[in-house]
Amino acid sequence: MLEQQETLLIVDDEPGIRNLLHQKLSREGYRCQEAETAEQALNKLAISPIALVILDIKMPGKSGIELLPEIKSAYPDMAVIMATAIIDINVAVECLKQGADDYICKPFNLEEVSLAVQRALEKRRLQLEVREYQQFLEEKVEEQMGEMKKLFLGAIEALVSALEAKDKYTGGHSRRVTEIALALGNELSLSAKDMEDLRWGSLLHDIGKIAIDQVIQNKPGKLTREEYEHIMTHASVGAHIVKPVVNGKISEMIEHHHDHYDGSGLHQVIAGSDIPLGARIIAIADAFDAMTSDRPYRSAMSISEAIDEIKRCAGTQFDPDIVTAFLKTAETART
Ligand SMILES: [Fe+2]
Repeated sequence: MLEQQETLLIVDDEPGIRNLLHQKLSREGYRCQEAETAEQALNKLAISPIALVILDIKMPGKSGIELLPEIKSAYPDMAVIMATAIIDINVAVECLKQGADDYICKPFNLEEVSLAVQRALEKRRLQLEVREYQQFLEEKVEEQMGEMKKLFLGAIEALVSALEAKDKYTGGHSRRVTEIALALGNELSLSAKDMEDLRWGSLLHDIGKIAIDQVIQNKPGKLTREEYEHIMTHASVGAHIVKPVVNGKISEMIEHHHDHYDGSGLHQVIAGSDIPLGARIIAIADAFDAMTSDRPYRSAMSISEAIDEIKRCAGTQFDPDIVTAFLKTAETART
């Protein structure tokens, strides 16, 4: 029995009772502390790692019945055994309903006290073990969800690369847009969660081009109105494709990445700050990369020409605050 090392707190206003329990339980191998009042008990609980409290129901000042809910709410894992005179048996039963683990009756049968302490501590140990195991399982599930997300992201990246590899003009576009968008997100102090969404949204922003006619997409001359409308369906098609596997914020970024800040874009239904922030960021990153890359119908602009064009469109096509952030990141990239 002497291997038990849990600390117990005996709360009773009568020194004789505290002594009796202290001696018996010390012999059983427990470390014992004593408190004469509820206040003393709370002080000791605050500073010592106590596993179990033996709590006298009737004490001058705050009673054990009043102290029990306080202990249970501050220390939910604490085992509590109520000590009562036989006459208080109904009160003791009430205490069990309030979260006490057991009760012992005065005058004490010391063997019964010892057994009650063993039982309550065993129950507490099991509860702690179950809690620990639950935490372990939750961590495991979270870890595996993270792994699955990573695998999924890897697969999507491969899909995007395959899509872009078919087209000599857009090779690496999504990856470059992602880099620019994340630099903008950083400049705008987005949270880690928003940055993660932005990364997905940028990587996938043109995934809907999978459904676009390659001949139209690679047409060297000016597009007809119908052809332009066909190409622009890639935003809503892309959002539709990814919806089942990504969160709503990401699919909305994809859906609105061609929206104009002033509402003048094709078939646009929202404008200004109603356009998701991620979509407003991607719009600038996308335009900058498109302008600085060769296209079937024109050759690439210089970086400073593209920056000037983005500046010129602040407040019309682009969110002016994000243009400001873009100019800062462009400045930093140059220096
Ligand atoms: Fe696009």
